[in-house]
Amino acid sequence: MPRFRSRLKTSDLTDRVVVITGAGSGIGRELALLCAERGARLALCDINEAALADIAEAAQNLGTQVLTSRVDVSDPEDMPPFAEATFDQFDRVDLLVNNAGVGLVGGFLDTSRKDWHWLIDINLMGVVHGCEAFLPAMVESGPGGHVVNLSSAAGLLANPQLSAYSATKFAVLGLSEALRMELKPHGIGVTAVCPGIINTTITQNTPIRGGGDHGERRKRLASAYEKRGYTAKRVAHNILRAVDRNRAVAPIAAEAHVMYALSRVTPPLARWLAMRAAELSK
Ligand SMILES: NC(=O)c1ccc[n+]([C@@H]2O[C@H](COP(=O)([O-])OP(=O)(O)OC[C@H]3O[C@@H](n4cnc5c(N)ncnc54)[C@H](O)[C@@H]3O)[C@@H](O)[C@H]2O)c1
Repeated sequence: MPRFRSRLKTSDLTDRVVVITGAGSGIGRELALLCAERGARLALCDINEAALADIAEAAQNLGTQVLTSRVDVSDPEDMPPFAEATFDQFDRVDLLVNNAGVGLVGGFLDTSRKDWHWLIDINLMGVVHGCEAFLPAMVESGPGGHVVNLSSAAGLLANPQLSAYSATKFAVLGLSEALRMELKPHGIGVTAVCPGIINTTITQNTPIRGGGDHGERRKRLASAYEKRGYTAKRVAHNILRAVDRNRAVAPIAAEAHVMYALSRVTPPLARWLAMRAAELSK
């Protein structure tokens, strides 16, 4: 039995309000559906309006109320109106999931300054913008709640072929750890989620930098993720379990657990493994 449990019991989310960024696809989409199945009302955003309309319809078919908003999480102007609309409609937020994120394959020498800004603005500043827009009202309204930030196994152990991506995901982990301490007196838990290799469309949308045949490299990457076969639906279940247990850091798939343990117990072995993993995307 864990010592500290979250105030949010995720097995029954009846009348709870869950906010998810990047809810149009992959982990965000499956988490939205699972929360709807468990009775939550949803505030969902994504940059992709068609995908957002699709998840809204699927969640409404499960009988839940859904608010959607087209939001680019990297744009500081987009998030506050979404937060206002959410509090106007639902009057509360119990779970904020800063999930929207993008990948970029490439070593440091192949990553441009433009790439860096693009990744930092979405993967790190997107989380900052979500927290800025929702947390003050969550704190003020009082009943506590939970924040989930999507980091990565590459945020536990740097990968030389995910140089900029790793940097953003380490930053999300650090921010989450600090927030967790700051928000504890307000009864708000914070969990950094480190999924592992999850079969979503992220492999199709991730820009690839550096030499070699990019088509071939993408095929190899997508095939490795498909073969691994860990679904976004399983991630969604494990995220809600981690929230319920109020985990600070939640590795999800087995490889993320191994990377978490090795990075703490034997960093040199962890680095050797990270080098091998990087071969996947070369
Ligand atoms: N799939 C994996 O193996 C994996 C592993 C570790 C971490 N993650 C993280 O999990 C999160 C979700 O990834 P996924 O695999 O479900 O990816 P995905 O590509 O399937 O879904 C990401 C969603 O975010 C949206 N999005 C992208 N940029 C946005 C922006 N600027 N503003 C708003 N929405 C935007 C996309 O439209 C998409 O709907 C990301 O933060 C990712 O880094 C994924």
